[in-house]
Amino acid sequence: MSIWRLDPTVSHLNHGSFGAAPVPALEAQQRWRDLLESNSTRFMLEHYQPALDRARERLAEFVGADPAGLAFVNNATEGVNAVLRSLEAILRPGDEIVITDHGYNACRNAATVTAARTGARVVTASFPFPIDSPRQVIDGVTAAVTDRTRLLLIDSVTSPTALVLPVEELVTALEPGVEVLVDAAHAPGMVDFDVSSIGASYITANCHKWMCAPKGSAFLYVREDRRPAVYPAVVSHGYNGAWPAAGGHLHTQFDWTGTDDPTAWLSVPDALDAVGALQPDGWEGVRRTNRELCLAGRDILVDALGVEPPAPDSMIGSIASIPLPGSSEPAGTIFDPMMARLRSKWSIEAMVFGWPRPPERLLRISAHQYNRIEEYERLAEAVAAEL
Ligand SMILES: Cc1ncc(COP(=O)(O)O)c(C=O)c1O
Repeated sequence: MSIWRLDPTVSHLNHGSFGAAPVPALEAQQRWRDLLESNSTRFMLEHYQPALDRARERLAEFVGADPAGLAFVNNATEGVNAVLRSLEAILRPGDEIVITDHGYNACRNAATVTAARTGARVVTASFPFPIDSPRQVIDGVTAAVTDRTRLLLIDSVTSPTALVLPVEELVTALEPGVEVLVDAAHAPGMVDFDVSSIGASYITANCHKWMCAPKGSAFLYVREDRRPAVYPAVVSHGYNGAWPAAGGHLHTQFDWTGTDDPTAWLSVPDALDAVGALQPDGWEGVRRTNRELCLAGRDILVDALGVEPPAPDSMIGSIASIPLPGSSEPAGTIFDPMMARLRSKWSIEAMVFGWPRPPERLLRISAHQYNRIEEYERLAEAVAAEL
């Protein structure tokens, strides 16, 4: 029996955007909700903090982090905002925040707002796509760094171009002179990911993407030396020490940011157990088989479309983007109209969007445990028909 609640009449090739949670995690979440709603005062004052600490310890073990440096947030966007907001206290006019031209629009916006509030400047580093080697990323980013650069915001896995970036090398090259905020939205559960070996000042990532936890679960990790200066984007009781979390500054600030539903966070261990059990070698096998399927799917598509693979295999995890021949139809958004046709005519969910800007466009696929190779064959047929 499938552990997924996914509609079986649809090919789900867009795990990258919003993930999918397995039934055992959703059932665990419902049990937490039932307990919460049976007595919300008792739940929040007695059950919540110990349950949160237990879930955090499991998450910390999975991502190789010290639990004291780990705070749950609702999504990676919130993690990025918390760091940028916190840095507003030290950013000065003329300081520079480096982002890349493969970055995620929401996070670019957050950097733009912080720059506007402080007089800092957002500098966009470039690297090509199609791309031959991670070296081009390192060269592009380091070329944009100056003695005014205070922060590099860099993705572990880019959203539009679906590239695994050489984040550790960049951290080694730039820290401590330049703080690095790693937007690892896609990384845990997709690539071999270990917070302590990355070594960046700040790392935020989603649990609701490749770890398959319920929506609204993500984390922010802050290296020990940076912890005292980091606050959540929403300031609450912790600021004057009124929230009784025991794990130090970060927990005091982040564990309560106003009344919310914490059940997605509490169900992270159940998602890890359920998905890890799908392969004999656990999560290593999940990552490996997802990646193999993604590469096989990408190969089917590039063959069918008569294009070259736009990136070396070494830069691919469980999502892959492929430039589509021809040009996009006019649309008011970045989503190409073909994406809606794939859904309505072919029952396929896959991203088709203008990048770097329309009329150029990319098709992005994903692979997770519920996908099969035939789905990419059918997608290739559908895309060829819809071009
Ligand atoms: C690179 C990157 N950063 C941030 C996000 C934002 O994730 P969320 O919407 O969960 O905050 C995404 C989502 O796809 C992403 O791909």
